[in-house]
Amino acid sequence: MIRPADEAGLREAVRLLKAGSVVGMPTETVYGLAADAFQAGACARVFAVKARPSFDPLIVHVAEAGWLERVAVRVPDAARVLARAFWPGPLTLVLARRPELPGIVTAGLDTVAVRVPSHPVALALLRMADTPLAAPSANRFGGLSPTRAEHVQLGLGKAVELVLDGGPCRIGVESTIVDLSGPEPALLRPGGLDSEAIESVLGRTLRQGPAVLERPLAPGQLAGHYAPATPLRLLAAPAAVDSGAAGLGLLAFQGAPGHHHYGEVEILSATGDLAEAAARLFDCLHRLDGLRLDGIEAETVPSRGLGRAINDRLIRAAERTRVEHP
Ligand code: TXA
Ligand code: MG
Repeated sequence: MIRPADEAGLREAVRLLKAGSVVGMPTETVYGLAADAFQAGACARVFAVKARPSFDPLIVHVAEAGWLERVAVRVPDAARVLARAFWPGPLTLVLARRPELPGIVTAGLDTVAVRVPSHPVALALLRMADTPLAAPSANRFGGLSPTRAEHVQLGLGKAVELVLDGGPCRIGVESTIVDLSGPEPALLRPGGLDSEAIESVLGRTLRQGPAVLERPLAPGQLAGHYAPATPLRLLAAPAAVDSGAAGLGLLAFQGAPGHHHYGEVEILSATGDLAEAAARLFDCLHRLDGLRLDGIEAETVPSRGLGRAINDRLIRAAERTRVEHP
């Protein structure tokens, strides 16, 4: 059930979390499926509800950097520096994990991914619950990420008793993940925080994390993720006049040419604003996916700033389609 995130809604959410249930939680990036990170049973429900493979660890959300020691040990200076610059916000840090944290949260890894979200509802929930919340994106594994409460309900249905409605997500793509557990900081997933901003605060370049691993460090690294049910194909160039067909949808960046033949068109940002495009990405894909089209064709966006996160999601969505619909 979707509920307003007022005092009563928050109280009910805390009651459910304490009882070992999972709750849909808005964040500034995407909606999360939250569980008390210190209840292994509740975290197991997150995996079950999402149909998520158990090798795929969860992100732990905390209310402030002061909570880091609840889940991590040997927090390096670089983490403090990045936390001061970018938290609350769309940055996830991978750190050495506290042994007390249930192993299911980190899928048996000795590291934990942690962030402070900036959405006021997420922060209020964390403070009221007074416990770190493990929360992956609130969608079935491999599917489109939810950027509205309705997306969570549509995707996960009755398995989630309560979704707190925090409105549409402001950023719209997941957090940027930086691994600080090794000798050099590494970018594991491009996301809502521009990696150049991170590099300028760190005063060094980020190593690119391994792209696609057999046992991925970040499943956002799997080829074939973030995919709609409708086959999605990437266009090599912006949609041409005369392209398309009635059964096809177009996900355009700035706008579609005048005489195309697409049945439906969604425009990410008429003005070419990458932040607006990121905020609309999953919402537009959810809408096109709901129309039972034969296919979706998608333009890529300029590969700078948030554009890198957008293209990353589109490439993986198209890859999934290629794998499942040869
Ligand atoms: O913006 C976000 O990060 C959203 C909101 C809800 O906070 N969450 C999110 O969670 O995107 P999820 O589960 O869809 O993606 C979490 C990513 C996965 O790719 C996972 O493998 C990676 O974080 N991750 C978690 N723990 C990790 C670890 N110890 N080492 C490396 N990657 C880790
Ligand atoms: Mg996800």
